[in-house]
Amino acid sequence: MRKIAVISDVHSNLEALEAVLARIDGLGVEAIYSLGDVVGYGPDPEACLLLTKDRCFLRLLGNHEHAVLNPDYGDTFNPAARQAIDWTREHLQKAGLLDCISDLQPYTREDEILFAHGSAQNALHEYLVEVNRSGYSTFDEIVDSLENDFIYFRICFVGHNHKPFLATTEGFIHPHQEMNEFQVSMEEKLYISVGSVGQPRDGDPRACFATFDGSKVTYHRVPYAFETTAEKIRSAGLPKTLADRLALGK
Ligand SMILES: [Fe+2]
Repeated sequence: MRKIAVISDVHSNLEALEAVLARIDGLGVEAIYSLGDVVGYGPDPEACLLLTKDRCFLRLLGNHEHAVLNPDYGDTFNPAARQAIDWTREHLQKAGLLDCISDLQPYTREDEILFAHGSAQNALHEYLVEVNRSGYSTFDEIVDSLENDFIYFRICFVGHNHKPFLATTEGFIHPHQEMNEFQVSMEEKLYISVGSVGQPRDGDPRACFATFDGSKVTYHRVPYAFETTAEKIRSAGLPKTLADRLALGK
């Protein structure tokens, strides 16, 4: 198969997105897949939308785009996220860019690969976490899901978690600096969480994405000027916590 790059959760962070695209340009990638949440939280929704529209072969709907399009989306977001969603809606409306996200779907299948924003079970909203919390799938449940649900597809790429991991029927692998390349067999069932470009939450502030060529999954980390993004968030009047967390990777 062709070599692809899979990005997710840009969250209106133009500095991170530009750094990631520059890295991708040097990797011999043939197509970029974006798994949603290009907007929300950050200060540059218009530029990030236009850039992903221009560069990505596939763009999925994330829960933040869904909330921007549906003002009565309910109470699934914390107050800072809600404030940013209302701010984003206003800005995209003014720029005439809501059409840019109105046709997106939260998942799609290409041959044996499912691409989803959230999870294979709930493409828009479900998080995958290590410990049991209501409304979340645990890692054990994910391994069961690989056994039971991965029938019409063998591989599932997800975003939404903001933390990179690779799950096989053998167990979980968390990529890190010394271990970021994984050789996989052509028969293996894989759950691949690609991490977040614009708001990583695994304690590493660098932007995160993955590449896949059919036999190797590689996680990439890219430093970017998060102080610039944080300053823009503060100047825009968005919640200060959204600026502060970028330096922490949380
Ligand atoms: Fe997200």
